Amino acid sequence: MNMFEERLRKLQALMEVSGVDLTVVGPGADMLYLTGFSDEARERPLLLMIPVEGAPRFLVPELYAHQVEEVAAFPPTHVWSDSQGPEAALREAVRGLEAERVAVDDDLAARAVLLLQDALPRASFSLASPLLKELRMRKSPGELELMERAAAIVDRSFLRVLENVTFFGRTEREVARDLEGIVLEEGAAGMAFETLVASGPNSALPHHRAGERRIEFGDVVILDFGCRVGGYCSDITRTVVCGEPTPRMREVHRVILEAQEEGVRTARPGIPAQEVDRAVRGVISRAGFGEWFVHRTGHGIGLEVHEEPYIVEGNPLSLEEGMTFSVEPGIYLPGAFGIRVEDIVVVESGGARRLNRCPRELVAVAR
Ligand code: CO
Ligand code: CO
Repeated sequence: MNMFEERLRKLQALMEVSGVDLTVVGPGADMLYLTGFSDEARERPLLLMIPVEGAPRFLVPELYAHQVEEVAAFPPTHVWSDSQGPEAALREAVRGLEAERVAVDDDLAARAVLLLQDALPRASFSLASPLLKELRMRKSPGELELMERAAAIVDRSFLRVLENVTFFGRTEREVARDLEGIVLEEGAAGMAFETLVASGPNSALPHHRAGERRIEFGDVVILDFGCRVGGYCSDITRTVVCGEPTPRMREVHRVILEAQEEGVRTARPGIPAQEVDRAVRGVISRAGFGEWFVHRTGHGIGLEVHEEPYIVEGNPLSLEEGMTFSVEPGIYLPGAFGIRVEDIVVVESGGARRLNRCPRELVAVAR
């Protein structure tokens, strides 16, 4: 049995147990996981429909038919053309399924959901993530290998940024473009998300992207970036200082390193995800910075940058071998500066192992 057939069987077994008759997946990470093919979700419905038993039905717009035939693990079964529209082909595709309970991929476009509801007027609809996260959360050795490669690329890139990129007097956006150029040179298929370069007071805004602010001597600069290899993502954050760090910056950075280390040490099989968050938060709170750590400790990562398991208070999910997620504590002092350090870890039998290995120390960049 090939990898995709195995994933299909596992999904169908989960559907059986949960009483789901049909799972419908549109373009995106779930489709890529289940078929090896995906595309941007655009206006034309492209739907993989998996009944609880038997072969998938694949509704494909004519202009994608050859591509799906060549790349996807399952052939297009119902092809529709622009002049016909998808309605008749979709009705044909679901004929005879007796689908009463339908689970749809969480990111499926509203227009596709409404078409499905028209084609299956008696069915009740729910989200497919409870099923699909079960499959995707634990990474196989093959998936991990791609994630290790993606992590190694950002590690090497960070070292090259320290050696080669000028920070002083340049805008955050210019630094981000240099950094992305290096990541692509190092062999990434693409960036995993919009690179974040936050300098000076902007570093205290956890979701600042990269703007037109020019970096000055004495600025903290947070670099948060990731790339893709074979569809799988990396995500890393390092904080540097342009010029000399102040004692306060060194203190906050030391607390962050200690908190991050504590998070990695806490994560192991059987530990609830929220325990990792508590461990990290405990270190930061005891150091007196608790109110400035304003986000969750981490997120799962794989085909998507943010996926299950979320490392957050309220998530009792027991960690298991093969789960991959970020440990990324941050302290943000409004109007002054912020510091964050992020590594991706994989849970193994003996504990969590970092995929990122480049230095985490506070680096003073002289240019
Ligand atoms: Co990140
Ligand atoms: Co992250």
